[in-house]
Amino acid sequence: MATRSQSRSSNRSSSTRDRSTSEGRNESRTSESRSNQNRGRQSRSAFSWGENSGPLIGAALAGVAIGFAANFGRKALMQGIEATTGAWDQILATEHEMTLAIFDKMLATDQSQTFKRKMLLMKLTHALDKHAHQEEMVVYPALREANEAVDADHLENEHGYIKTFIYELNEMGPDAPNWLEKVREFRALVHRHAHMDEEEVFPRFKQAMSEEQNARITTLVNRDGFWMA
Ligand SMILES: [Fe+2]
Ligand SMILES: [Fe+2]
Repeated sequence: MATRSQSRSSNRSSSTRDRSTSEGRNESRTSESRSNQNRGRQSRSAFSWGENSGPLIGAALAGVAIGFAANFGRKALMQGIEATTGAWDQILATEHEMTLAIFDKMLATDQSQTFKRKMLLMKLTHALDKHAHQEEMVVYPALREANEAVDADHLENEHGYIKTFIYELNEMGPDAPNWLEKVREFRALVHRHAHMDEEEVFPRFKQAMSEEQNARITTLVNRDGFWMA
């Protein structure tokens, strides 16, 4: 197999042969050949990895592998803590409690604690995101399948307003004079929403399902929570 340098030199010798037959054609061929060589050099420098790229690629892949393993471990730890809380409805109820506890910490801050407020809002956003994902990807679709679409649609619609509160809090900033008032309103919505989950919708749905179906929902909620952790 001819290497790039071999084919370049064979291009050059064919240009030399051309020179003996026609001067004019030779001029244009030589310049064409030069520009081809230039293009070749440019494309190699722009798109090829080069001869000594092996260790670099190896290091990059090792970095990706370490990052993936660390993230996987973190997810396993996060989800491991939650997976101990039992069936799907208990997992979600525990998450409601954890979320309301973050709200209480937010309500205990004052206007000067801007960093703490920012951190708590980030924590709350992550907790609500993960929780909503589990409900929207598993529980609400299962509810619709069981002819409970009205409740599923109502609850999913409220998730949109939960996201709206997060948006508003981010936009107003942690030192806004009405920050606490906004957080209080937000907490009231989440509390009412969680109450509907826990007291009305989940118990009815749980009772209507077989033990196997409940176990399946628990598996799916845990699996979804793992990837969102
Ligand atoms: Fe919900
Ligand atoms: Fe919920």
